[in-house]
Amino acid sequence: MSRTVVVLPGDGIGPEVTAQAIRVLEAVAAKLDLALELLEAPIGGAAFDAVGRPLPDDTLALCRAADAVFLGAVGGPQWADVAVELRPEQALLDLRRSLGLFANLRPVKPHPELAAASPLRPERLVGVDMIIIRELTGGIYFGKRGRSESAAFDTCEYSVSEVERICRVAGRLALERRRKVTSVDKANVLDTSRLWRETAIRVFTTEFPEIELEHLYIDAAAMHLLSRPADFDVIVTDNMFGDILSDEASMLAGSLGVLPSASLGAAGPGLYEPIHGSAPDIAGRDIANPCGAILSIAMLLRHSLDLPDAADAVELAVRDALETGTRTADLAVTGGAKPTGTAGFGDAVLARLAL
Ligand code: IPM
Ligand code: MN
Repeated sequence: MSRTVVVLPGDGIGPEVTAQAIRVLEAVAAKLDLALELLEAPIGGAAFDAVGRPLPDDTLALCRAADAVFLGAVGGPQWADVAVELRPEQALLDLRRSLGLFANLRPVKPHPELAAASPLRPERLVGVDMIIIRELTGGIYFGKRGRSESAAFDTCEYSVSEVERICRVAGRLALERRRKVTSVDKANVLDTSRLWRETAIRVFTTEFPEIELEHLYIDAAAMHLLSRPADFDVIVTDNMFGDILSDEASMLAGSLGVLPSASLGAAGPGLYEPIHGSAPDIAGRDIANPCGAILSIAMLLRHSLDLPDAADAVELAVRDALETGTRTADLAVTGGAKPTGTAGFGDAVLARLAL
């Protein structure tokens, strides 16, 4: 059976990191004798420049019919003045929403050999192994918004069923891990958060009684993520809080460039992308870190192609490359070895891929 993966390189460093990630995916397919069809399509600013829309209908149709979608990154300063609904970022939001990808999984498990790259003291990082489950198709990202000359508003809305389904994803994942879930909200101020907390309590007490459920306000969670990061197992939170916490958590791993993500719905293709953005300041210079993109391929193999052993092999190859000192510039230690380029890091991973 042939599998189809739609590849959306996007903007900035998106195409460079995507190229390395796809080399790894192709190598896995070749080793496993897997019939793989890769279809590239435009998205973001690149699509806007080509056809006047950041998410062309053809791109969306290809994605809908695929087994999985891989995305590099979207956005850049050259589209800053484009109308809101035509901005590159809007394409990503529309894609997530159109594919019903309500659950965004962002694992944060620092490689011990990158401890020196983190701004945190190395002893704080011992044992850190968490996954942030970010609700991805609701909340303030998708609420009614508007603006006039002198004012603007964005509304945040959540339904009980939206909160229930994301809590169930968190619960199921926690059962396979250390059985602890931290639900993050702002229930001392926001009604959506009070609904979130009540719903979480009900879902976990009735459906996951064996899981320990903890609640934190977002401000405290941001602090605890730095003061006791190893205590977290599964974090479940809304769209905006999850966006912010996952960038913060990336500093535990040493760089925004190393973290992957998977966005999953109830059915249909999953979307896989590094959590970093398009980094236009370093685009086209072969210095971007393709680690998050390559590790997103591992998530794709695991969650959409049902190839857990291949996923493990990719993760091991990345770890091995890092352990043997292969570093892109974002992770290089001052005075250390000369950093490896984007393609060079891809080479190092491919050379270590054992399947
Ligand atoms: C992310 C990004 C996106 C988001 C942007 C590019 C719209 O920051 O995936 O975390 O805010 O969701
Ligand atoms: Mn983000």
